[in-house]
Amino acid sequence: MFSLLVIAVLCTSCLAAPYDFSSVSVPVGGNSGDVFYTQGDGRISGIRVWENRSSFITGIQVRYGTTWLPTIGFEVGPAQELLLRGHEAITQISGKYSTSYIFQLYVVTSHRRILVAGQPTWYSFNMFPQYRGAVLKRLHGRVNSAGITSLGADWGMVYFSNAFFS
Ligand SMILES: *[C@@H]1O[C@H](CO)[C@@H](O)[C@H](O)[C@H]1NC(C)=O
Repeated sequence: MFSLLVIAVLCTSCLAAPYDFSSVSVPVGGNSGDVFYTQGDGRISGIRVWENRSSFITGIQVRYGTTWLPTIGFEVGPAQELLLRGHEAITQISGKYSTSYIFQLYVVTSHRRILVAGQPTWYSFNMFPQYRGAVLKRLHGRVNSAGITSLGADWGMVYFSNAFFS
């Protein structure tokens, strides 16, 4: 009886684990503006962030492979930029948010490189993949006529072919 119970519990956890090791970090911030969702092949291979030095994050742009997607929000002043190399990938996004906007971003890579942008005010957030080896595949959230109001992340496994480095 006891061993049957153990097997039942093990099988339940087997079924619950997704085969692609994907997970979602739900957005933090406000609910003003339109929903955005970045879409591309593989991992996010580069990121640019614009900040208003007296307020919040105004714009984000991401790259897949060698292609930059259109900027989400607004390019205010010079961008903070992080370009990934080889098999490097983004493994953590942290920062600060209020109930209206995203104020600061820390983007951390598997090579321990960090992009920092914005102001260290309001509440902290930390987003990580749920599964070991998973990396940042997509950003989502909301953007209004002033800047980035909310931000979340999708994580998953990425398989690199040796023929294509970015
Ligand atoms: C930056 O933020 C300040 C304070 O909220 C605002 O008055 C100003 O218009 C903003 N500047 C830009 C370029 O968005």
